[in-house]
Amino acid sequence: EKGGYDHFMLKEIYEQPRAIKDTYRGRLLADQGLIKMSGIDQNLEKFLNANRIIIVACGTSWHAGLVAEYIFEDLARISVEVEYASEFRYRNPVITDKDVLIAISQSGETADTLAAIKLAKEKGAFVFGVCNVVGSSIARETDAGAYTHAGPEIGVASTKAFTTQITVLTLMALKLAKEKGVFSESRFHEYLTELETIPAKVEKALLANPLVEIIADVYKDSTNCLYLGRGYNFPVALEGALKLKEISYIHAEGYPAAEMKHGPIALIDEQMPVIVIATKKGHYEKVVSNIQEIKSRKGKIIAIVTQGDEQVTELADHVIEVPETFESLTPLLTTIPLQLLSYHIAVMRGCNVDQPRNLAKSVTVE
Ligand code: M6R
Repeated sequence: EKGGYDHFMLKEIYEQPRAIKDTYRGRLLADQGLIKMSGIDQNLEKFLNANRIIIVACGTSWHAGLVAEYIFEDLARISVEVEYASEFRYRNPVITDKDVLIAISQSGETADTLAAIKLAKEKGAFVFGVCNVVGSSIARETDAGAYTHAGPEIGVASTKAFTTQITVLTLMALKLAKEKGVFSESRFHEYLTELETIPAKVEKALLANPLVEIIADVYKDSTNCLYLGRGYNFPVALEGALKLKEISYIHAEGYPAAEMKHGPIALIDEQMPVIVIATKKGHYEKVVSNIQEIKSRKGKIIAIVTQGDEQVTELADHVIEVPETFESLTPLLTTIPLQLLSYHIAVMRGCNVDQPRNLAKSVTVE
């Protein structure tokens, strides 16, 4: 069942190139210069006339929503708000029939997300679901949607659901960018071509596994860990931290790198591993100076860098390379070593990786 892997989580991490291809199937038609998504095609006016998009989700799906905020705003120029479903539903939020609500949920059964959908529908919003489980409650409750097609995710820690959620949301944003006319034909084509290379690039990112295992062994006894990223990779930092705390029970926090000097920098000493996402395109120089600040306080730096990197490689204690891609697509690659790092640390600490204590795969009560 585990396909020769020790745990479902590792199997599902390795399934990601295939899962992303499945997400693309029938949708990403690069040779025809098209993205086909029936849920959008049939409701195009709703999206094009929307005042804003509100994304609701919990946990890892909420992190995918945060990545989507950057993608929709940057590529499609649509204003986005991302909300924890549990906060949104109890806040008496301002919702109108001009709003589009996107609910993201792997299981399609998360109680708070389902309740947020019902609330938004009552107020007249158009509700779109991004779910993995076909026929789930959220898939049925929404007006339209797009499945991630990641296949069953058994490990409680979400991995392939996250990257396929980002994939679906990227396809949506690109399609809308094209329909809105904010994307030229040639830029659209460049994106379609680059998207096609992503599964192979994820495969390359997975080659870091033996190196990540060595790094995991160095830091497995840490009691705290900090994850930093900027822009598109800020949500990846949050997701990296969640993954570590969830399965290894090490206290971890994700922060936008620039927020460090507003508090968390006080935590840094020689005991503190800091995982920094420092890919070439995402405010690289600014991240380099954040790394220098950590180094001068003796923090240990594990950096996720673009293949061929020199500047960060010189400063960091460890570097893990990922292939180069468009900045907006980097989360699909930078998240891979972070999943592997949590996995190995948790295994080395003797934790139950697939079924961490106190957690359930789907949270059907609030
Ligand atoms: O099924 P959902 O995507 O709605 O679940 C949301 C969260 O409960 C889920 O992502 C949780 O945070 C995971 N265990 C994270 O790995």
